[in-house]
Amino acid sequence: MKKILAGVALVGAVALTMTGCATNGGNGGGGGGGDDVITVGFAQTGSESGWRSANTESLKNALSEENGFKLIFNAADNKQEAQIAAVRSFINQGVDAIVIAPITVDGWDDVLKEAKDAGIPVILEDRTVSASEDLYASWVGLDFQKEGELAGEWAVKNADGANLVVLEGTTGSSAALDRATGWSKALEGSTIKTLDSQTGDFTRDGGKKVMEGFLQKYGSEINLLFAHNDDMGLGALDAIEAAGLVPGQDIKIVTIDAVHDGMQALADGKFSFIVECNPLLGEKVAELVKKVVAGESVDKKTIVPDQTFDQEQAKEALPTRPY
Ligand code: AHR
Repeated sequence: MKKILAGVALVGAVALTMTGCATNGGNGGGGGGGDDVITVGFAQTGSESGWRSANTESLKNALSEENGFKLIFNAADNKQEAQIAAVRSFINQGVDAIVIAPITVDGWDDVLKEAKDAGIPVILEDRTVSASEDLYASWVGLDFQKEGELAGEWAVKNADGANLVVLEGTTGSSAALDRATGWSKALEGSTIKTLDSQTGDFTRDGGKKVMEGFLQKYGSEINLLFAHNDDMGLGALDAIEAAGLVPGQDIKIVTIDAVHDGMQALADGKFSFIVECNPLLGEKVAELVKKVVAGESVDKKTIVPDQTFDQEQAKEALPTRPY
């Protein structure tokens, strides 16, 4: 398909030849068995959280055979070297387009340049990169800084003067960096005191272990927790309850994502506030892939809006929440 773009005049014949190549694996491509099939390599971060599962499902559903795609999926277990290796493998297979949910912001320049040199358009989803915008076709994701800011504004209104600990997301990820920036911005001038801040790598296990350490060090001094995602907040819940403290009362918990288990904890009064991070990016990604492969122009940047939930709103939303 990508060669169709280069040879516009020969549309019919070239299209048949090239998609035939991909289908037969002639260029190593994973073509999917039809003239119009678009072969897409998707380099996912891993499976660290409930949010990630919902995001993977959304992309798999949208980049389906019924929708005209042949999807080659890779999850990198949160290791950037593995994710970059997956992208290189997609380039070698001659896919029509590559989708990446970049684990970290930095380190993408070389492989994005390799994709560009090979004529393969790249769509970024979820997180951003520091590489030049010229190296990818488009990005669709969330305003992470705004998410951190909304969480911080709630904390200032509802827990000013509190002693805070923070569970950060994956170090070097745009989600963790931008949420931290937004949170700090909202807290400027407040009397919230930050006792500690460490990464829990966006996982439940990470959140639990780091919270156990915080509780050993600061004990009942802690009365506010900001977790960069629901899963770390859920892990922290176990540590808080095991320490004989009552989440939601002794320690207010603010998180980001609004996945099912987080919303249940909010409805149960264990979490105090959640800022949504919408994982359902699949349809937009599929639309962008179709357009760039067809040589149509696309917006460089698409931001999907988020909402916020308090305990009452979580109770109302839970029954119809899709993830
Ligand atoms: O990049 C989005 C973040 O990644 C989500 O908030 C978190 O749950 C996931 O692991």
